[in-house]
Amino acid sequence: MTSAEVSAPWWASEGFWRKCAIFVTAFMALVLIILTFHTLVVIEAGGESGRVPAYSVINHRIGFEFDSDRNHAVPTIGPLVPLFGEVLSEEDAKALVNHGKLTVQARNCMNCHTILGNGAYYAPDLTKAWLDPGWGNEQARELLMTMFLTDPVANKRTFGTNRTMPNPKLTEDEVRGVIAYLKWMSAIDTNGFPNGFTPLPQDGPILEPEEVVQ
Ligand code: HEC
Repeated sequence: MTSAEVSAPWWASEGFWRKCAIFVTAFMALVLIILTFHTLVVIEAGGESGRVPAYSVINHRIGFEFDSDRNHAVPTIGPLVPLFGEVLSEEDAKALVNHGKLTVQARNCMNCHTILGNGAYYAPDLTKAWLDPGWGNEQARELLMTMFLTDPVANKRTFGTNRTMPNPKLTEDEVRGVIAYLKWMSAIDTNGFPNGFTPLPQDGPILEPEEVVQ
């Protein structure tokens, strides 16, 4: 037997696998960078993907209806039913939603709640909280949400869990911001999550276009 016959084949050499490891790491790093930029485009509010609505969606009625093509429920954007009865420009709506988002982050609401798949399961998922049938009906919702978020202890519902939300002592502006954030979030296309969710009935008055003051 000659020495050439016993030497390892090319694919078993250390050098080959080192090159493979370097190539795979570099390639996957590139994929990660591309996916990161792609995600930024897809999650842009009002962006082309259509999955995350513009902030001014809070001026409209938001539904959650079954789409037979996709075989799950998707958010629908209906007629004008402005939040707190006031039609906001995209810029003002963005400021309000952002105020709510920052409040939710600063107060660590995710310690108990889940938001868009992140967070805890102690308390109800907030992703579609705006559409929760627990608010009764479209006309009562804003008032009940304001009362609840202003004083969740006095206005607790608990839903038979015996769990009460502690009072986060939000200011009036923070409460309005949080409600705007929850309304905007309910219009995000979450691929049908939560599955089998039935939104509260919404058949209240809508604004005619001529009543809108921009
Ligand atoms: C210590 C845990 C805890 C924290 C922190 C917490 N919550 Fe809650 N939250 C609860 C519980 C428990 C409920 C259900 C009880 C109830 O409705 O009375 C609830 C209910 C809610 C609801 C009603 C959800 C629905 O669909 O009915 C909203 C909205 C809400 N919380 C918002 C917030 C916001 C905003 C924050 C942060 C400022 C927050 N929560 C922080 C425990 C918590």
